[in-house]
Amino acid sequence: MSTILPSVAILGTGNMGGAILRGLLAPGIEAESIRVTTRSAASAHTLRASGVEAKSLEEDSDANAWALETARLVVLGVKPYQIVELLGEISSQAHPDAVMVSVAAGITIPTMEKVWPGALVRAMPNTPSGVGKGVTGMSIGTTVSPEQSREVENLFGTVGEVLVIAEEQINALSSLSGSGPAYVYFFMEKFLEVAGELGFSPDQAEVMIRGTFVGALALLEQSGQAPHELREAVTSPQGTTEAALNVYAAADLPSIIRQASAAAIARAQELAGD
Ligand SMILES: NC(=O)c1ccc[n+]([C@@H]2O[C@H](COP(=O)([O-])OP(=O)(O)OC[C@H]3O[C@@H](n4cnc5c(N)ncnc54)[C@H](OP(=O)(O)O)[C@@H]3O)[C@@H](O)[C@H]2O)c1
Repeated sequence: MSTILPSVAILGTGNMGGAILRGLLAPGIEAESIRVTTRSAASAHTLRASGVEAKSLEEDSDANAWALETARLVVLGVKPYQIVELLGEISSQAHPDAVMVSVAAGITIPTMEKVWPGALVRAMPNTPSGVGKGVTGMSIGTTVSPEQSREVENLFGTVGEVLVIAEEQINALSSLSGSGPAYVYFFMEKFLEVAGELGFSPDQAEVMIRGTFVGALALLEQSGQAPHELREAVTSPQGTTEAALNVYAAADLPSIIRQASAAAIARAQELAGD
């Protein structure tokens, strides 16, 4: 079954905007039209070469207005510090019924609604969105209709799973799923280091560690079991895994995870000037 979306514009098609664009171009997704913009001519050229309607501000200072002509869903994929200025610039060009979708970290709905009084959604996707396995938290602004909310859910549904949450929770979500991929890679890096210290070659370490993470997650997906059940299945009483897990418990890893999340939330509040 196809997902049908209205006309979409992506203003700022870099890492995150590009990930959303790839989701929109996937089989089974039908958007009425897609127009995207970038700052530099080079990035717009690359996008056009892949068959996408793209313009850059460098080539045409009205590129964003062109993308907005038909758009009812507008993804703002520029850096957080550019969001308010961009919204101010385009507020008179966008269709009054268009929904603005910001993926900018730290810029709140009330801040954006001061310059765009229409429908607005604040979303926090994560990097696996680039391969269609993302998790996006989205919070809806004060004037978003249920239909518009569903359309934005469908938009992020093209790059993974979506949670609709209150804006008060968006920093907490960001500290888990937003930053989460970095935590996973950090653990992997540390395991790779230990594998080297235990005498394995880099190639062997890579097979062991990448294979174990990918395999453990595939087992989780396919077995339908909860993480604690799968952990218990590996952990024989008084066995080797239990000995290792006791070290994590003694170091109070859960408390470290909690503190790390709290630090990310505090930093997000600081960046937002809360
Ligand atoms: N990367 C992530 O993991 C991630 C996760 C969650 C949220 N986000 C959010 O996503 C947003 C973008 O981050 P990113 O990492 O994707 O940045 P990025 O790769 O630098 O992309 C920014 C894009 O905006 C374009 N641009 C700059 N000014 C513009 C303007 N006035 N009009 C139209 N396009 C313009 C740039 O064009 P050029 O390429 O030509 O310079 C580039 O394509 C940020 O707000 C960030 O908070 C990112």
